[in-house]
Amino acid sequence: MNDTLYKPSRRGFLTGGIAAAGGLVAATGARAAGPDPAITEVQDWNQALGLGVDARPYGMPSPFEEHVKRRDVEWLTASRESSVNFTPLHELDGFVTPNGLCFERHHAGIAEVDPAKHRFMINGLVDQEMVFTMEDLNRFPRVNRFYFLECAANSGMEWRGAQLNGCQFTHGMVHCVQYTGVTLKTILDECGLKTSAKWLMPEGADASGMNRSIPMEKGLDDCIVAWAMNGEALRPEQGYPLRLVVPGWEGNMWVKWLRRIEVGDQPWHAREETSKYTDLMDDGKARRFTWIMDAKSVVTNPSPQAPLKHKGQNVLSGLAWSGRAPIKRVDVTLDGGKNWVTSDLQGPVLDKCLTRFYVNFEWDGKPLLIQSRAIDETGYVQPTKDALRQVRGTNSIYHNNGIQTWHVRENGEAENVEIS
Ligand code: MTE
Ligand code: CO
Repeated sequence: MNDTLYKPSRRGFLTGGIAAAGGLVAATGARAAGPDPAITEVQDWNQALGLGVDARPYGMPSPFEEHVKRRDVEWLTASRESSVNFTPLHELDGFVTPNGLCFERHHAGIAEVDPAKHRFMINGLVDQEMVFTMEDLNRFPRVNRFYFLECAANSGMEWRGAQLNGCQFTHGMVHCVQYTGVTLKTILDECGLKTSAKWLMPEGADASGMNRSIPMEKGLDDCIVAWAMNGEALRPEQGYPLRLVVPGWEGNMWVKWLRRIEVGDQPWHAREETSKYTDLMDDGKARRFTWIMDAKSVVTNPSPQAPLKHKGQNVLSGLAWSGRAPIKRVDVTLDGGKNWVTSDLQGPVLDKCLTRFYVNFEWDGKPLLIQSRAIDETGYVQPTKDALRQVRGTNSIYHNNGIQTWHVRENGEAENVEIS
């Protein structure tokens, strides 16, 4: 961001700072104690021309929003190239994730692919093996679909107890955007599937050559070969110029920088579906091919990075999602599960998408134990962490969809705790 373009005055910063640090205020529209300089003083932006059009040919957020950004946890991984950062869920609203804030998970860094040189190949058990350029793909009938993507490792650090302080870190390996592309079925129909064709293996053009086995049924059902997100080209971080969209299934299968799909008659047992992305159970055996992301939810506000600042009227906000079906209901408790209320689902409730929920509540300044519990249209109820551990043991990393608890103290600060 070029900060010479837009310089808020020093005074502007100070006023903002004091207002934000003003402690707990009771009413929603506080009565003025004296003259408010934000009203009585002429502000910089009132008295001079602002920047003209095209000062920022590609628009960026206001400098006052600088804190709204992806963040990583340095000690989590040995290198930046095989690492992850997290979506700032507590700073967002609605259900769409802005492109620049979608968490990143790379196994070999961000491939900078020249779309003119990018090729997408279908080979294996097809009547006609084919290679497509980006322009070829653009001429197929197109679809636009919203979907969430969740890394199977989201909340993985929390398996054995509360660890990271902030929903950005505990739940931020999820994003939800609108994808534009062509259905994988259209492409496969173009090539013609042999009767023995039962499995698909997408492969990435990055140095990790990410590959996974996907059953044909899923490939023909709702997978998309996508080149755009939220109306513009995919970001390099998200697989520009082409990625596979595998709705409701673990993020690892959504191969980025997609260059090839092999059609076969059995799974490939690739590294990422044997040594990784399997769930080690207590008896030493591992669950595998656990593709679907079960229903899950989290309260994003308040949360450790977003404390309560006001007594009285407040809005609790959060996100729920399920890889099986649309979200049906989200229950919220403020007292650790003694009483539950049904939240208000706001905005479209779309299949396999993030769903925004709200609860309007009065805070009397007493400590809270906040939880949310998602239920999807299949009737599946998000489990407690204890219930999950009873079934899956404590060795797992992936597929932790247990109920999250935030403890809000009297001063409004929140922390990650576990009560069940
Ligand atoms: N595809 C390639 N080619 N290389 C990768 O490292 N990471 C996978 C998947 N696809 C990966 C990939 C993992 S583990 C996840 S969770 C998602 O991409 C992350 O997608 P995002 O970076 O758009 O959030
Ligand atoms: Co992942």
